[in-house]
Amino acid sequence: MKLLVLNGPNLNMLGIRRPEVYGSRTLDEIMHDLAAYIRENGAEAEFFQSNHEGELIDRIHAAYGLIDGIIINPGAYSHYSYAIRDAIEAVGIPAVEVHLSDVHNRESFRAISVIEPVCIAQVSALGERSYFVGAQFILNRLKDPAV
Ligand code: DQA
Repeated sequence: MKLLVLNGPNLNMLGIRRPEVYGSRTLDEIMHDLAAYIRENGAEAEFFQSNHEGELIDRIHAAYGLIDGIIINPGAYSHYSYAIRDAIEAVGIPAVEVHLSDVHNRESFRAISVIEPVCIAQVSALGERSYFVGAQFILNRLKDPAV
């Protein structure tokens, strides 16, 4: 089983960017621990971060036929990228949308996700734990589609 973990714009600034909202650990530190967690659960993972919409879309397309599940924190693209939404729908790979912060209790524009309708779940508000819960969710679903 192979997962793709995608991080969108500004997530490379974790650790610097608003630590009171996003925590003080860097993306590399979080992804390092997430890789170990995914391995412990019997799966493999690839990781990709980009600040560019087209690069994220290209990576989603490249996953077709090779990747079993996607964990994506689309950053601000969550709220308006119909192109990323369509890419996830096009490849038909089960995806979980994750957010560190509580997008439902911040600025009103953050409460809307155009990505969520093409995902099997959305996890938010748990800080970095959102990625781990997202991974657990998708691994459970891949192991047993009835879950
Ligand atoms: C975020 C929430 C988005 O609204 C924001 O634009 C981000 C980070 C999160 O992980 O909480 O860049 O996706």
